[in-house]
Amino acid sequence: MNNFVFNLPTRIFFGRGMENQVGVETARYSKKILLHFGGSSASKSGLLGRVRASLAAAGVEWVELGGVKPNPALSLVYKGIELCRKERIGLVLAVGGGSVIDSSKAIAAGTLYSGDVWDFYTGKAEPPKTALPVATILTIPAAGSESSCGSVITKEEGALKRPLNADCIYPRFSILDPELAFTLPENQIANGAADIMAHLMERYFTNVDHVEFSDRLIEATLRTVVAVAPRVLADKTGYDAWAELMWAGAIAHNNLLDRGRVGDWASHDIEHELSGIYDIAHGAGLAVVFPAWMKYNLRHDIPRFAQFAFRVWGVEPDGFEPERAAREGIARLEAFWKSLGLSVRLSGLGIGLDRAAEMARKCTDADSHSVGQFVHLTSADIEKIYRLAE
Ligand code: NZQ
Ligand code: ZN
Repeated sequence: MNNFVFNLPTRIFFGRGMENQVGVETARYSKKILLHFGGSSASKSGLLGRVRASLAAAGVEWVELGGVKPNPALSLVYKGIELCRKERIGLVLAVGGGSVIDSSKAIAAGTLYSGDVWDFYTGKAEPPKTALPVATILTIPAAGSESSCGSVITKEEGALKRPLNADCIYPRFSILDPELAFTLPENQIANGAADIMAHLMERYFTNVDHVEFSDRLIEATLRTVVAVAPRVLADKTGYDAWAELMWAGAIAHNNLLDRGRVGDWASHDIEHELSGIYDIAHGAGLAVVFPAWMKYNLRHDIPRFAQFAFRVWGVEPDGFEPERAAREGIARLEAFWKSLGLSVRLSGLGIGLDRAAEMARKCTDADSHSVGQFVHLTSADIEKIYRLAE
């Protein structure tokens, strides 16, 4: 196990009705905030109305900026930064999913930075050390941004989707009320489950030895998602299964599960090229990319893939042919995702291979670096992975 620092700075308020505390909690940080949200879902469900009432009751003033789209755009981030500066905003409150939260984090970091916030995402500038405080009310268990230090933004020009990781953008608090997810359509539930599982699997495939404890934590979280996601789809207002999924989604991506180990993250980078260009849901892209990444890299560590197959999917170990058992684990993952209504092939998303070489080159910034820590992939490898996913 590697040395590590462990700090989870996000205070989580979990459970029914917790969003009604947002005013009181927000007032601890600032009396003037930006209320940031997406399309129409939070307003239709009545959530935004309750948030406004709670803020008003706590004496918090707010300025509103809606319209965050899935795969959040840099242009709206710039608008938010301008607004925060003009209105002397003290906190950004995200009401929505990963896209709204990521846009909020970008605004929070950009407001206090004199340069172009996009430079943080391209690596041209060092990650920020300060940002306005961010808080969230989560409406979809998926990206894990509610307790992560990450933000992923798309620059429309060039369809460049890039991540930033910085400690100062961890939300100060996040409100997780499973009931807020009851209005999600089936496809977003499935996309979210795939993303949560991908966050776990990115961490699972590591070259670091003696990580038995975190292996077991990841396996348990994966098995929980496999058990509860079908229950959520079967009963979209079943609180108990939603509660399990929402909590699993936050834990999957808040860095608890990768202390002392190094995750891979190639599948995420390879997927971000897809959602950047084709504007598909991130989870839908991962359901296509991850199995192909697994097949391509299986032989790097057959025992680890066989362990994944056995402990997560119950595939009996095969002492004579461990690769057979390892492949069966991938097949079970694909079958599970299909059972949720996801496609595990690019063709199912209506995407061909015409831009595969271009995406592979973009992913490595024109071959200036490799991608992935478990296996270091070149653009030639990545193109083959897109082809395997056809
Ligand atoms: O815009 P509205 O109308 O709110 O609709 C949203 C959106 O269309 C809808 N939705 C959300 N909650 C709902 C709801 N509809 C009905 N009822 C509700 N309760 O769902 C759609 C998708 O929302 P989005 O926020 O895009 O989903 P998600 O949470 O999956 O976020 C995806 C983004 O997060 C990034 C992804 O790349 C993608 O851009 N990620 C961020 C990470 C991070 N910051 O740590 C890590 C992830 O790996 C990921 O890359
Ligand atoms: Zn993800």
